[in-house]
Amino acid sequence: MKKDKNYIDLGERGKYNPNNKLNDLTGKEWIKFTKSWFIHRPPRRKEDEILHPAKFPETLVGEFIKFFTKKNQWVLDPFLGTGSTLISCIENNRNGIGIELNKKYFVTAAKRIERLQKELKSDLKIKLYNSNSNDLPKLLAEFPPIDYCITSPPYWNQLERNSIRQSERKKKNLDTKYSSSEDDLGNCKDYYEFIEKLCRIFDKVFFVMKEGGYLTIIVNNIYFESKLYPLAFDVAIALTKRSEQSWVMKDEKIWLQDDKSLIALGVNSAWVGNRHHQYCLIFRKETK
Ligand SMILES: C[S@@+](CC[C@H](N)C(=O)[O-])C[C@H]1O[C@@H](n2cnc3c(N)ncnc32)[C@H](O)[C@@H]1O
Repeated sequence: MKKDKNYIDLGERGKYNPNNKLNDLTGKEWIKFTKSWFIHRPPRRKEDEILHPAKFPETLVGEFIKFFTKKNQWVLDPFLGTGSTLISCIENNRNGIGIELNKKYFVTAAKRIERLQKELKSDLKIKLYNSNSNDLPKLLAEFPPIDYCITSPPYWNQLERNSIRQSERKKKNLDTKYSSSEDDLGNCKDYYEFIEKLCRIFDKVFFVMKEGGYLTIIVNNIYFESKLYPLAFDVAIALTKRSEQSWVMKDEKIWLQDDKSLIALGVNSAWVGNRHHQYCLIFRKETK
């Protein structure tokens, strides 16, 4: 490690500026992440991860966590699923808090986290709640302000609809909905009511977030009953119009899913796309 005037030379990684306020990346790594799209081919999912119908890869979350936080800072995921965000926190030396409504996913997440912490002899502070994210301010009352939130919420009723992929899961006896709980946002019947309920949870994330902290929501537009619901766009618009003090939208990054197989949809009849990308919407808390 060589020090020149203001930078620390980290060899292949590039040069790190000790005045970097946001993360522990070098200039070279920082610039690489700012491209508006990326292709991410996740490693094959393990047995206990297949249980969850819509898990995002730890490796992908890791890239975001490394950009939006420094070591030992606090990361939150209010829709934890089987724990990807917290696994990624442990792998990248961040403290983390996760909230998951469904007991089965919560238990899987807890087991995966315990196993990894033992394996890595990690003493990071990792906290999981089997709870409704509406209770977030109460659950997080004793914690320091959150540095970064990354999450992927239910995509409205997307899991329940009878898509080809969901029929495949049904055949294998795998979950095709998260739960039957009324608190589960995936069970909300009305699209606009769903958006409002989702925004109310992000209002609560806003409340526990530090000034200048970022929020990344991984979400997509969805197709239901022969019509596109622009869920990603509607969430972006709704969240930035909550009140005078709401999230400021900064950008989107598009995750290109180049590893999904094409399905014959609407062939010889009408346009139905194979949607092989997701939106990673980036917001910031800026009240001053
Ligand atoms: C898209 S999945 C998240 C998957 C997660 N990123 C992973 O990699 O496993 C959304 C999750 O939100 C949970 N959920 C739905 N409503 C909730 C609520 N009100 N509070 C907390 N969790 C909720 C569902 O049970 C589901 O596991």
